[in-house]
Amino acid sequence: MKSFLKISLSGILFTLILTACGGGGSAKKELVANLENGKAVYNKACIACHWKGVAGAAALDDKPRWEEMAEKGKDVLLTHAKQGYTGKYGAMPEKGNCLDCSEQDLFDAISYMMDQAGVAFHK
Ligand code: HEC
Repeated sequence: MKSFLKISLSGILFTLILTACGGGGSAKKELVANLENGKAVYNKACIACHWKGVAGAAALDDKPRWEEMAEKGKDVLLTHAKQGYTGKYGAMPEKGNCLDCSEQDLFDAISYMMDQAGVAFHK
């Protein structure tokens, strides 16, 4: 009985430590969107496909598609924008063809498009 208590207590402790590290403690810094910059990046690069939905890209007014993307969370979307991504709709080119775009630029552009579509990140 006593050892059982010990095991479950250490289990709880372990979970607490994991939770603490998963939160603010992680080394990765949280990106904060700059929608003005996002608009500029969008107008420079993403607009070619994401304005009207060319080649399978989500159009800016296609809210259900942006909702579907929002489900994935910002980390996944940013990774896909950086590396390129081929899904069931088509092929998103690496960095959305904006090869001089930084990670921040891409994140800003994604945030701008989400904002225009009226959708918020789910995670
Ligand atoms: C040549 C056309 C094209 C350009 C330019 C383009 N995209 Fe895309 N993008 C696509 C297509 C097609 C998809 C859909 C892929 C799928 O889900 O099948 C997509 C999907 C995405 C996704 C969702 C990825 C996912 O996980 O569902 C993000 C985020 C994205 N684009 C961001 C951007 C950003 C930011 C830019 C500008 C810097 C950009 N795109 C420029 C074609 C383009």
